[in-house]
Amino acid sequence: MKLANIKREWWKEAIVYQIYPRSFQDSNGDGVGDLRGIIQRLDYIASLGIQVVWLNPIYSSPNDDNGYDISDYRNIMSEFGTMADFEELLAGFHARGIKVVMDLVVNHTSSEHEWFKQSRSSRDNPYRDYYHWWPAEKGTPPRRWSYFDEEANAWRYDEQTDAYYLHYFARKQPDLNWENPKLRAEIYDMMHYWFKKGIDGFRMDVITFISKHTDWPDFGDENQGSIMIDRYAEGPRLHEYLHEMNREVLQHYDIMTVAEGPGTHTHNVLALVDEDRQELNMNYHFDHQGIGVGERFIINDDFQNLVKFKKVMSDWDKALSTKGWNTVYFGNHDFPRMVSRWGNDEPQWRELSSKLLTTYLLAMRGTPYYYMGDEIGMSNIKFDNIEDYKDLMTINWYHLTKEEGGDLEKFIESHKLCARDNARTPVQWDNSMHAGFTTGEPWIKVCPNYMQVNVAAQENVPNSVLNYFRKMTALRSNNLTLIYGSYQLLLPNHEQLYVFERQLDDETLLVALNFSSETASFEYDIKASSQLEVLIDNYNDLTLGESRIALKGWQAVVLRV
Ligand code: GLC
Ligand code: CA
Repeated sequence: MKLANIKREWWKEAIVYQIYPRSFQDSNGDGVGDLRGIIQRLDYIASLGIQVVWLNPIYSSPNDDNGYDISDYRNIMSEFGTMADFEELLAGFHARGIKVVMDLVVNHTSSEHEWFKQSRSSRDNPYRDYYHWWPAEKGTPPRRWSYFDEEANAWRYDEQTDAYYLHYFARKQPDLNWENPKLRAEIYDMMHYWFKKGIDGFRMDVITFISKHTDWPDFGDENQGSIMIDRYAEGPRLHEYLHEMNREVLQHYDIMTVAEGPGTHTHNVLALVDEDRQELNMNYHFDHQGIGVGERFIINDDFQNLVKFKKVMSDWDKALSTKGWNTVYFGNHDFPRMVSRWGNDEPQWRELSSKLLTTYLLAMRGTPYYYMGDEIGMSNIKFDNIEDYKDLMTINWYHLTKEEGGDLEKFIESHKLCARDNARTPVQWDNSMHAGFTTGEPWIKVCPNYMQVNVAAQENVPNSVLNYFRKMTALRSNNLTLIYGSYQLLLPNHEQLYVFERQLDDETLLVALNFSSETASFEYDIKASSQLEVLIDNYNDLTLGESRIALKGWQAVVLRV
């Protein structure tokens, strides 16, 4: 790979740090994180060495789905603060050289959005066509599966106009009708509003679902998600809409865009992110998250299958190696803590495996998306009781499983590993009450390991997980091979080791990671290396033979070879 042939972009060179504001820092003691809380932590965020922050939704919302149900796109959620707070926060990030990406949630609104209130009020209201309605005199609409509905049914009967409306997510999240050009113009106008305020991009929530098959074909009676998700993502006008959005809005600003792409796979992703098509910059997929996880997040033996993981990640790299640009991530607000999912959160291995996962994310090709709290090795809270959960998805799935007479014990055990709330427990700042997150009652429980696992305890320890993250962000940001170099997987079938090379111009880097607690070694011709140098090693103790490299449990190294 030659640097001269690469189109450099700031968003390809950036590390994105994701903040879930509700759980980051509370500033006023009401138990809910807020914008002033983030303002208090600006210097900490800047100290991480990241270049972009993605904020989960902060718009007005009744919070059925923690802000993914928006009632006013142009205002700030009252629990989070005011527009003045937002402007101060944005200026604070910009002053520190950090760009800010906001969440764009335009597949659906809250049912409390003014558009929906109008729309449901009568069949001839001017806003009627802002949403999808099925008049009841046509009979029951064709089955559509819903993620969050109590009956997993995406059509909800509404008495007022004797019709059903569509909601892929909760009943209080009706889907917008993108067929309507007036609706599209309103969305574009709203996007201009935020770009004019100075934001630097959008992460687009379930954007692959915006185009519906409005002839409403029969998708079968399948009650579960896996089949429906791929159908939802192949709406006939998706690319037409995104191209239009690009021409109307995106092309006018120096910004970045990333699709949350359920239903994107290596065979269809280029339709979204091939530069020539003028749609979006990046996409993030779910293929690795799905390994070993079945319907309703019930896990199976493949949960940590490294061979499958390597294949998925390598196939994705290949799909975007000459056109488009990849993304890599483990954790976010919808998935468990990375160390509990892909590492080992037992006390003996938690720190080492967190460092290994950090090494991986920041040594891959593709923009890394790194979730708050992972930089200190936060782990899953693993609730024993359904009463502790706040997430409507877990709660509804639990009740569905119960009604069906399903295995509730298995459900609870699987959700200890997979539930979204594992990622939503408050950031652990110090060992004071509620981990320094709030002086009040936190909206969701704090993970009990905060006494050991917290920012303050790691700040001044040179080899802490936190300081390892900082070393790794510096390494990536100052090394173009880690950003743009080609990726070559070695040992595809090895069950413990993930080893790959990155290469750019004259430089070759070897990344070797032991995804297990047992020592493992592999053949590598060290003698041939003219410029051997260890760039990072989470043990600071690497055993190199002449032609073999041995890695201890969860050891991670990056070598220049
Ligand atoms: C996305 C969000 C998730 C939300 C859903 C509905 O998947 O990441 O948190 O619940 O969309 O908006
Ligand atoms: Ca608060």
